[in-house]
Amino acid sequence: MTGTKQACELGDCGTCTVIMDGKAVNSCLVLAMQADGSEFTTVEGLAVDGKLSPIQESFIDAGAIQCGFCSSGMMMSAKAMLDQNPSPSRDEIRHGIAGNLCRCTGYYKIVNAIENTAKRRCKEGGA
Ligand code: FES
Ligand code: FES
Repeated sequence: MTGTKQACELGDCGTCTVIMDGKAVNSCLVLAMQADGSEFTTVEGLAVDGKLSPIQESFIDAGAIQCGFCSSGMMMSAKAMLDQNPSPSRDEIRHGIAGNLCRCTGYYKIVNAIENTAKRRCKEGGA
């Protein structure tokens, strides 16, 4: 797998975010013994049968992917948030991706993408 990125290794950047037992976690801080027996979803798990998920399509459509380094972590944080709160406000979205840094500073479009994902998921379902 190549989707999950490794950068700070200190829990500061969020590029390594995966979903562990339904919660977004910085995988760089999860010990192997903590992970044992848990269920993980990485960005590779978003697409189904080669079809991009609503969140992936929304990131592309909104121009929310610039260099792309933060994108997998952003999408996993967004998915975990949307699974808990399907209709978040923009403030709730910002809170949901707090801890995920985008060095390209494209936060406005990222928030737009997540907002659009919520609308899309209501219509189509899926991640
Ligand atoms: S690599 Fe930065 S939070 Fe894990
Ligand atoms: S798109 Fe480049 S770091 Fe976020």
